[in-house]
Amino acid sequence: MSKALNGVRILDFTHVQSGPTCTQLLAWFGADVIKVERPGVGDITRGQLQDVPNADSLYFTMLNHNKRSITLDTKNPKGKEVLTELMKVCDVMVENFAPGVLDRMGFPWETIQKINPKLIVASIKGFGPGPFEDCKVYENVAQCTGGSASTTGFRDGLPLVTGAQIGDSGTGLHLALGIVTALYHRTHSGKGQRVTVAMQDSVLNLCRVKMRDQQRLAHGPLKEYSQFGEGIPFGDATPRAGNDSGGGQPGRILKCKGWETDPNAYLYFITQAPVWEKICDVIGEPTWKTDPNYAKPAARLPRLNEIFGRIEQWTMTKTKFECMDILNKLDIPCGPILSMKEISEDKSLYATGTLVEVDHPVRGKYISVGNPIKLSDSPAEVERSPLLGEHTEEILSKVLKFSASQIGDVRSSGAIGEVPMAAE
Ligand code: COA
Repeated sequence: MSKALNGVRILDFTHVQSGPTCTQLLAWFGADVIKVERPGVGDITRGQLQDVPNADSLYFTMLNHNKRSITLDTKNPKGKEVLTELMKVCDVMVENFAPGVLDRMGFPWETIQKINPKLIVASIKGFGPGPFEDCKVYENVAQCTGGSASTTGFRDGLPLVTGAQIGDSGTGLHLALGIVTALYHRTHSGKGQRVTVAMQDSVLNLCRVKMRDQQRLAHGPLKEYSQFGEGIPFGDATPRAGNDSGGGQPGRILKCKGWETDPNAYLYFITQAPVWEKICDVIGEPTWKTDPNYAKPAARLPRLNEIFGRIEQWTMTKTKFECMDILNKLDIPCGPILSMKEISEDKSLYATGTLVEVDHPVRGKYISVGNPIKLSDSPAEVERSPLLGEHTEEILSKVLKFSASQIGDVRSSGAIGEVPMAAE
């Protein structure tokens, strides 16, 4: 079965997490992704958070599946020549260097356009044009500057970053969409273009509902926030709302049986208005269905602490899975707080390819997250990440069609470093 992006070749000049997330997705959809790495060093994440001595880290392997690796010193004149040749035979170049790096390397946009006018050049930067455009940016900086941290956590506590890598992986996702859109545009424009995504912008896009609330504040308090029911006045910015739901239906994380010892024995519970009567029945408060203090959503808002306290008395008598079982049958929206251990043991996620077991020649077997986007006619098969420079020779000879003597020249220039003569 051919893959959706078969025939598309990507020059992957990305590193760390944001860019590699994007190019890994494109590889899973069938693109030929050629990762360019610095000789001897490679993507810095190869050596970060290493758990198995001398093996590429999980940080690297889990973000670089299905790619080929060529080592190339792109500051070396011969290396620049090879990079130029790669630009000529690729459809897309993806990079997430610090601002100005490509220009300093001798490849500003104008030069790239001359080399290959059809090349799409996709970039991730921390910020768009403006006061911070020259800054280097990592995940948590983006979470803080994109509005996530100021709206995450409890009102009386510090701003919080989230474990979801919305700054890095979130931006990579945005970039992948930009790239396939530009590829589609090229089918009728015939030209490449620049695709840029700033990490701040991506985070802000994911925090859209908090910008919604910022504007609603001008017209009165945010009544669905617990803070309103507690009689605490609002300030001039969207506040942190604990575990309130962003959609307007009151929701909380509640203790379940075993919470005293299990840090994840909790359930997210939403008191969705259409199922209020069922909630009253299940928790044993049938009179709340008609009592004017509880029957209507507006009446409940000042009483959310009391209401959720009563619901929690019920959830604490059951495990999170028992709660889920009972509530789902009644269409009462809820979700167990699943630990990474529980998720990693969920067989149904392996059945769909969302979790995969991958074998690596140095580190052995490990679990990875597969492609969460399922195409019926282009299923993703996860292949191990490349060793550093594993495909250098193959790319020079088969993709660039260099002769043996040309490859010898490249090698003796020092541009590819010490790499195996041929891939295994
Ligand atoms: N051959 C030769 N030199 C290479 C090379 C290669 N194959 N690949 C990279 N380099 C050089 C670059 O030319 C640059 O040199 P210069 O500073 O002399 O111009 C140098 O490596 C460092 O690149 P840089 O991107 O600045 O890396 P860094 O480790 O200092 O910074 C980031 C890392 C992530 C902070 C930075 O790249 C960045 O802000 N990226 C954009 C935002 C982003 O994606 N952040 C999230 C990452 S998950």
